[in-house]
Amino acid sequence: MNKRRRVYEGKAKVLYEGPEPGTLIQHFKDDATAFNNKKHALIEGKGVLNNRISEHIFVKLGEIGVPTHFVRRLNMREQLIREVEIIPLEVVVRNVAAGSLAQRLGLEEGKALPRSIIEFYYKNDGLGDPMVCEEHITAFGWANPPEIDEIMALALRINDFLVGLFCGIGIRLVDFKVEFGRLWENEQMRIVLADEISPDCCRLWDAATSDKLDKDRFRRDLGGVLEAYQEVARRLGVLTENPRPKGSGPVLVSSKPH
Ligand code: TMP
Repeated sequence: MNKRRRVYEGKAKVLYEGPEPGTLIQHFKDDATAFNNKKHALIEGKGVLNNRISEHIFVKLGEIGVPTHFVRRLNMREQLIREVEIIPLEVVVRNVAAGSLAQRLGLEEGKALPRSIIEFYYKNDGLGDPMVCEEHITAFGWANPPEIDEIMALALRINDFLVGLFCGIGIRLVDFKVEFGRLWENEQMRIVLADEISPDCCRLWDAATSDKLDKDRFRRDLGGVLEAYQEVARRLGVLTENPRPKGSGPVLVSSKPH
């Protein structure tokens, strides 16, 4: 199975060569990392959940006309995607003060922001993904002004859609990170949503209790990481398996003597 050519290995995913030119296979691992890889653990089953959650969200975004790299899910851990040229930016959209924004500006975590805020980080692990502004992005040629406009418009559409999607299942979308890529079709270039959208790269708080249902459970040692991801998957309706009955052991189907 692993005779396929590995194109790229990231912290939580591996990309393999796809079945035809212009395609790749995106494989979701169980690895969880935080603080630029300083903290690492295996969370068994996380990759399977993220594959399903991300598939669900990318399909729904595709249905409202957001172009994405997603083609179809192949199996429990893998999806077929279009090969794109990744723009080296982590695009963060925030609705509520939390994480690094709360820290940097001394804001109270949980306070709604006056409006949604977009931030850019330069995707470079060696530098710890530093925050950058549009001047850096254009001066260093990571994206040009029309591409930045398109990225911001897409990021806000994605945010509007996701806020509603999660609100409908009792979850507050605090913030999230997305990545975009360039896709060429017949000499034409389009910016498309790439990578993944899962609890690994979102802050998702239960609307009633404010319980964290995302990777902050891992970053902040809160425990119950897999259970939180399962809860998100369950509420999105992508967990189809019935939970195993607890402690009942084998069930006697028939006790009739032969
Ligand atoms: P931050 O508050 O730590 O800057 O994170 C903002 C959002 O981006 C949050 O939803 C988590 C996500 N994120 C990633 O997906 N990858 C990262 O490396 C970091 C730092 C944040």
